[in-house]
Amino acid sequence: MRRERQLEILDRIVGHRVGGNTTDMYPDMYFSPTDAYKSPERYQEELDRIFRRTPLLVCLSGDVAEPGDFVTLDMMGVPLLVARGEDGKVRAFRNTCQHRGACVAQGRGKGKRAFSCPYHAWSYRLDGSLIRPTHLDGFRGLDIDEVGLPAVPCDEAAGLVFVSFAGREQPEFDARAWLGGSLVDDFESFGYENYQLITTRSTTRDVNWKIMFDSFCEMYHVQFLHAKTIAHLFRSDCSTFDDLGLHGLMTGVRATIDELKAQPREEWELMRHAALNYHIAPNTVLIHMIDHVEMYRILPEGPTRCRAELSLYAPELPTTERAERHWARQAETLINTIETEDMAMADQAQFAVDAGNPPVFRFGRNEPALIHHHEVVEALLAGEEERFAARDPKPVRISAGR
Ligand code: FES
Repeated sequence: MRRERQLEILDRIVGHRVGGNTTDMYPDMYFSPTDAYKSPERYQEELDRIFRRTPLLVCLSGDVAEPGDFVTLDMMGVPLLVARGEDGKVRAFRNTCQHRGACVAQGRGKGKRAFSCPYHAWSYRLDGSLIRPTHLDGFRGLDIDEVGLPAVPCDEAAGLVFVSFAGREQPEFDARAWLGGSLVDDFESFGYENYQLITTRSTTRDVNWKIMFDSFCEMYHVQFLHAKTIAHLFRSDCSTFDDLGLHGLMTGVRATIDELKAQPREEWELMRHAALNYHIAPNTVLIHMIDHVEMYRILPEGPTRCRAELSLYAPELPTTERAERHWARQAETLINTIETEDMAMADQAQFAVDAGNPPVFRFGRNEPALIHHHEVVEALLAGEEERFAARDPKPVRISAGR
């Protein structure tokens, strides 16, 4: 992140601290009808108008850093294979053998020259084309050039890899344009093409995807819900939010922030005192910290069901036992906190919605990232996303207070 951006955010945070631990605020409260968290019709609209129309973040470039590196995953009901080709380009395919539908790759891996289906050993190049079927005589007359892994639109920008399920309506898309200049600037400075996956966890809950996503959209709760776990690490009622068009940046403040009082401004470093929570529409939160990155992708699986993919990355893999223990502890704390505290609240909220009360969720002005995300969802549903065209950071500190 550019130095002047860091200082601009720090100035706002310090202003909040001096002002008595105030926080960025939206102009108004927001009321979100809770029927939208259980209605099958609304869910179908969200699939059709949001998840099948917008690029979806699938992994970091570091997951597929070199030719032959690949990851597999299920997304939107489609088995996917993402691989970097010999030409350095990242592509996505349906992970579906064109003989009889088995997956041609499992999990993730490095340095593959080709993908060989485990069922009858048909093999495919890294660009998805079929090399040949086995038992050539049995398939005499098959047009080999026609039988590749079906491509899924894919693009890479600033260390992030996206796919799209728009199909024929949008066979190509521009990930840089989707992110916008400010996010591209920030992510390019972080070097995600070199990040390494430490661990990943997939959790399916009987919760609407928005309720799950909302867990990551405000710092307000940290002081209360996480009082016995991670609250001591943060100043949770003091954060900033930048409206970046369809996306947003909520900057969480670490408890070390008051060290700045004793430092001249030219020595201030944002990353020592902040957690940058990037909200990438429609369903990903990427938290950039000084020594690691947490990625949360929330995938809808039904009106009241979703899958949360949690991934922890670091700039390099641990090379000592001590480092391994450190990351194991980090991962355990993170996953335990989220599963036993945040997701427990999400479960309760969904239970309440299913039981018919409250009729609306009430988002406070002190929860600007939450309100912004819901405004973006509504705009995407209405086909009015141009109202949220990529823009330079726009602080939402309309007023600050408690
Ligand atoms: Fe893949 Fe038969 S299903 S080779």
